[in-house]
Amino acid sequence: MYWLVLIPIAVAGVAILWKEIHSVFVFCWACFIRPLFAKVQTKPTHQQDALEHFYKSQAHVYDKTRTVLLKGREECLRLAVSHLPQDKVGGNLVWIDVGGGTGSNIEYMDHILLVPENFKAVYLVDLSPSLCAVAKQRFANRKGWENKVHVLVADACNFSIEYSKADLITFSYSLSMIPTFNAAIDNAVSKLDTNGIIACVDFGIQSSDTVIGRINTLGGLKNRESSWILRNFWRIWFEADKVYLDSARRNYLEYKFGTIKSLNTHNTKLGKIPYYIWIGCDKSKSELILHRLNCLATESPYLAPSDSNDIASIVDNSLVPISKGHEAALINFLKNLPYPSIYYQREIWRVYFDELNPHYQQFKNQYIYAFTWEDPREDHKILKFNSNDTVLAITSAGDNILHYASLPNPPKRIHAVDLNPAQNHLLELKLASFRCLSQEQIWQLFGEGKCDDFQHILIDKLSPHMSSNAFQFWMEKGHKTFVKQGLYDTGSTRWALRLTRWVFKAFGVSKYVDELCQCTSIQEQKHIWKTKLKPALFNPVVSLFLVGNPLFLWKALGVPANQAAMMGDSVLRYVVDTLDPLIERSLISSDNYFYYLCLQGRYTRDNCPDYLSSKGYKYLTGRATNNNHSTGELSSPIDNIRLHTDFLNDVFARLLSNSLTIAIIMDHMDWFDPNGLDAHKEISALKQALADNGRVLLRSAAQYPWYIKTFESLGFSCEPAAIRKSGKSIDRINMYASTWVCTKKPISPLSLTCPSPSSTTTGPSRRRMSSLKI
Ligand SMILES: C[S@@+](CC[C@H](N)C(=O)[O-])C[C@H]1O[C@@H](n2cnc3c(N)ncnc32)[C@H](O)[C@@H]1O
Ligand SMILES: *[C@@H]1O[C@H](CO)[C@@H](O)[C@H](O)[C@H]1NC(C)=O
Ligand SMILES: *[C@@H]1O[C@H](CO)[C@@H](O)[C@H](O)[C@H]1NC(C)=O
Repeated sequence: MYWLVLIPIAVAGVAILWKEIHSVFVFCWACFIRPLFAKVQTKPTHQQDALEHFYKSQAHVYDKTRTVLLKGREECLRLAVSHLPQDKVGGNLVWIDVGGGTGSNIEYMDHILLVPENFKAVYLVDLSPSLCAVAKQRFANRKGWENKVHVLVADACNFSIEYSKADLITFSYSLSMIPTFNAAIDNAVSKLDTNGIIACVDFGIQSSDTVIGRINTLGGLKNRESSWILRNFWRIWFEADKVYLDSARRNYLEYKFGTIKSLNTHNTKLGKIPYYIWIGCDKSKSELILHRLNCLATESPYLAPSDSNDIASIVDNSLVPISKGHEAALINFLKNLPYPSIYYQREIWRVYFDELNPHYQQFKNQYIYAFTWEDPREDHKILKFNSNDTVLAITSAGDNILHYASLPNPPKRIHAVDLNPAQNHLLELKLASFRCLSQEQIWQLFGEGKCDDFQHILIDKLSPHMSSNAFQFWMEKGHKTFVKQGLYDTGSTRWALRLTRWVFKAFGVSKYVDELCQCTSIQEQKHIWKTKLKPALFNPVVSLFLVGNPLFLWKALGVPANQAAMMGDSVLRYVVDTLDPLIERSLISSDNYFYYLCLQGRYTRDNCPDYLSSKGYKYLTGRATNNNHSTGELSSPIDNIRLHTDFLNDVFARLLSNSLTIAIIMDHMDWFDPNGLDAHKEISALKQALADNGRVLLRSAAQYPWYIKTFESLGFSCEPAAIRKSGKSIDRINMYASTWVCTKKPISPLSLTCPSPSSTTTGPSRRRMSSLKI
């Protein structure tokens, strides 16, 4: 008779199941079915009656039935919390949840930031009495919450609270239900503190036509537009429930506030309903901030104005190049639009760039280099940076930029330039990590290239230190990059890693690769290379299809045809000359993290870029120097990094003349056509930005690159810092045949022809700053 025991269990099971089914049934009935069959009743004249009609029957099942439908509510709260003014956290926060319904958001907040400990007051404002009743009951008998959480049955447009301003205002799936949304948003404008955060998560559709003229205010266009079908299907569907997905609501938010972060996504569980998460702030930022950001981007000396109201007086008479960001901000200002989203970010690293620049398309929203393939130790040996230097270098994966910044005596400013926005997104991620992560977390991300918790870390910690564009990029790619594949198995450089692995595997020598990576003597290393690995790698088949193949070179190693031509008659010979001497130079296991990474897909603690070491961490987080004990503020060398997403020429043109002392342009001139004008143009632009005796460091696949002549003809003196001879290595990568330093010769006083100021400062980018006076 054992089965008798099962009866009560079965009954209980059915009862529980019935409760669930019942919830779903009530929800579907109220949301999807009843609206379709509803008789044309007398239309309610008050919104409250309409809401009650909809919610009264389902208030008790509301929370249960919305977890699948209303996605992103937690992420939105967490994002808002990570951006809150830190001085208010810990007891002084005032929060208004507009259209807060049953109060589930407030309960969720408690998991992020303890409500009784951190908030002075929390207001739930909702027009539906039946939902408010659920909320009131929910908080009624909770210890410590009684005097903090206030449930107000009131309209979003005209509620009133005890405090004049709030630090946090949230709209969680409520804006789409408020017919008088303009007034509700205006009300939020009047109640948000100058340093406060407003957050909104909601359904909403957008088409590209609705963004023209204000794109730079939106914080990134990634996934913003949904297809015509989705747009119209969901808009019409939700209309039956009096939920309006029209674009105007979000557009008005984006007009009344400055956009800090935005994210466009879809509820994939329910047929791709488009929804967004957005956080913003008070849009009026002073002109002074604009001016400061301009100076930071252009290297013009920033003079702190004695009288802050009189900004025009300090800039009026100086001819300063104007950054593209400044121009854009000025235009927005004249149209009464918020400033570009980049201006509302906490960090000033990322220099404004125009997302619609068609040149960005070629990169297909992906970076090519997941790691930098140049030896920065050599750069320092050659150039000996010090704190008087202003350095411009190509971003690539940002490893070299971080190396320069983590030197004991780092340059006073580093401009990192890359045309590919994604390369700068990668460097932004690294910079943000040094702002807020532990050394261990940084190691997981960039040493191992793996981090299971990436998305949480991104939203909770890194996001306040990133531009909205970089945030969108990493929200989309982060999971694949750090959870599924690993950082070093992304970008085009992954092919170099993958193919090496396959080739060695195909020839059954993988175990020798591991042995090579553990060698403790050069002797041993040479032996394994000569007898096991080299024969596999330079097997005729591999040579033909991979190493000697232009397509492979371009795809996997980023070597274009112009450059391959510079390698001389035999690309294969070139590769042998690269690798053979390396094996004799230093141990792959401890002093060559470049090749170690290629072979093992990760770094080790004592074989990694300097910035990942404990010392690097100390320098880059500002713990090594400059520790200002009185304010507790750490100033770090990464404060002095600027990221430009543009052609080198455009960056040179907008830097103050004679402001750079060092430019490190890698092998990038190898890519130019020797018969074209590109090299000439670029070197001229570079010269303009470079100070007298300023130096250019470059690498080339040729021992004597053709464009050295161009440098010389334009007034540089050029010296090879190293030329690769067969059998000898010049650095730990040894992929280039030469390294050159070209120095800008000062114009001697005799030959000086005294150009008039106008002739040196013409061109579109050099305009008077007096336009700021408006
Ligand atoms: C879909 S519910 C979202 C509830 C809750 N914020 C959540 O995330 O679960 C929308 C809420 O907006 C409220 N609402 C609609 N119009 C309103 C108005 N004019 N003033 C205040 N609340 C309003 C509704 O009563 C409802 O509770
Ligand atoms: C808001 O407007 C309603 C009329 O719809 C009015 O009854 C209520 O008193 C107003 N509330 C406040 C705080 O002004
Ligand atoms: C930087 O320049 C100043 C002025 O020319 C000089 O006195 C100082 O020694 C330089 N600093 C370094 C580290 O070279």
